[in-house]
Amino acid sequence: MNITDMKINALVKEDIRLSSFFQEEKIDFCCNGHRILSEVLSEKNLDPKEFTLRLEAFQKALDEKGQKDDFFNHMDNEELIHYIVSTHHSFTRSVLRELDVFTSAILRAHYREDPELLLAVNDLYGSLRKELLEHLIKEEADLFPLILEGRFEEAKKEIEITEDEHDAAGNLLAKLRQVTKDYALPSYACSTFEACYHHLEALESDLFRHIFLENSILFERF
Ligand SMILES: [Fe+2]
Ligand SMILES: [Fe+2]
Repeated sequence: MNITDMKINALVKEDIRLSSFFQEEKIDFCCNGHRILSEVLSEKNLDPKEFTLRLEAFQKALDEKGQKDDFFNHMDNEELIHYIVSTHHSFTRSVLRELDVFTSAILRAHYREDPELLLAVNDLYGSLRKELLEHLIKEEADLFPLILEGRFEEAKKEIEITEDEHDAAGNLLAKLRQVTKDYALPSYACSTFEACYHHLEALESDLFRHIFLENSILFERF
């Protein structure tokens, strides 16, 4: 089958390293990973042949460095949940703690240089932070125990809510990219500003993998 006739998340399922390729191409592989690649390419006016060549070149470069990575396909529910919580939930919480400091610091120091931008970043970050902290707790206290206890019918209902929350977080991240013009540093940016944008991008990239593992691997089992 042609690569472009496949679902985006199916390609990432085979090799999670492709997540960085899709991220660089600004192609959503997590919240909208169920879409067929060719449809997304035509919306973006990208030539499928040229795109396939680039994807294959990216994969070839990775293969020269080591094996493809699909460890999560071999994990049972318990192992996968443990991996998600210990890796992604813990990273999200720690990067949010750092971002709390950076976002307030740049608002204080640079408000006068661009009030519109600084307020928008502060506002969107505040909403994202609240959403995420509540979301992590709900997964750990409600959804994951249902799955681990084998209460799959109840889990399915909770999964619908969880996926809506993933979409909401994805939308906030997209708005942050929009207002920051893809995290382009303004001329007045200091090192704290740079660290703030860098951490926001790290939060985004980790969250994309995290949502992919939940939506496209764990939740698809039910
Ligand atoms: Fe999660
Ligand atoms: Fe989640």
